[in-house]
Amino acid sequence: MAKKIAVIPGDGIGPEVIAQGMRVLERLDLDLEFVHFGWNADEFLRTGVSMPPAAMDDIRQNYDAVYLGAFGDPRIPDMKHAADILLGLRFQLDLYVNYRPVKLLNDRLSPLKDKKKIDFVIFRENTEGAYVGMGGNFKKGTPEEIAVQEDVSTRKGVERIIRYAFEFAKRSGRKSVCMSDKSNVMRFGGDLWMRTFEEVAGEYPSIEHFHMFVDALTMQMVRAPEMFEVIVTNNMFGDIVTDLGAALQGGLGVAASGNINPGKVSMFEPIHGSAPKYAGKDVANPIGAMLTAAMMLEYLGHDDEAKLIEDAVIAAVDAGETTKDLGGSLGTKAAGEAVLKKVQM
Ligand code: IPM
Ligand code: MN
Repeated sequence: MAKKIAVIPGDGIGPEVIAQGMRVLERLDLDLEFVHFGWNADEFLRTGVSMPPAAMDDIRQNYDAVYLGAFGDPRIPDMKHAADILLGLRFQLDLYVNYRPVKLLNDRLSPLKDKKKIDFVIFRENTEGAYVGMGGNFKKGTPEEIAVQEDVSTRKGVERIIRYAFEFAKRSGRKSVCMSDKSNVMRFGGDLWMRTFEEVAGEYPSIEHFHMFVDALTMQMVRAPEMFEVIVTNNMFGDIVTDLGAALQGGLGVAASGNINPGKVSMFEPIHGSAPKYAGKDVANPIGAMLTAAMMLEYLGHDDEAKLIEDAVIAAVDAGETTKDLGGSLGTKAAGEAVLKKVQM
């Protein structure tokens, strides 16, 4: 039976970059069925609905993957529809693994002088932490106003993401796992993360493990990125350090991510946002969306085809056939075309 993929291009540059990803996916001629959904800011402003109420169950029951562009629109400053759809998918489908590889595609893209070995993976916990929306306001709008924002860690949630990181390291032949937190200050959550990390690490004696406070992590990612193979961290720190990771690999335009519930329907999106000021101008880099398509194929068991896309992207970057952010002179469509032409079937 054909695997079924929900395509949600979203806002801003989302539709343009997803269109290029779709070209390469369709070109590979796999047994995949794509269903497009037009949920975005325009729809939301027109109807007041982010996503029809039954849609989440439909996706959960009838789809194998979601291929998503980007969400965010200046006309919706509180990001209501983005939160409903993007965070809605992450939470309601329990996509607890946020998988964000950091790999330099070409030495010339490194923003660091003399640092060329940049090849590690960040696993960001994706269903807890500061993203749960717990807390509230008291005396709002008065000079005595108080705001409380809770940071939630559960044993189950912490253990499953740490275990996934070790399993990944084992499966992919990586030698070490670094857990990063701020346990010197956030003592309760940090203590849970530290104990769980040590316990799970004990089950993987062949893989080295070490801990680093997140402030030190950001410094070492810049000073000595070659020391990292797998990093695991919480939702908020993961959000922050994966943007730094994207910058290390050549910018947000090339960074891909997977939001995974192992064995279940999972969602794949480029790390970049909707970049409203570049929308409709044929300037956005489609590589993030194309590598995201490759990641989705790998998840669906099409490893060879995923590799074909990755190799084609690397060949296009090597040839300088890219958008301006990577030093080329092509528009979005032409940069997508350049990758497509290099897919060696
Ligand atoms: C990301 C984004 C999202 C996040 C925003 C758009 C809610 O920054 O996927 O990294 O904070 O997770
Ligand atoms: Mn982010």
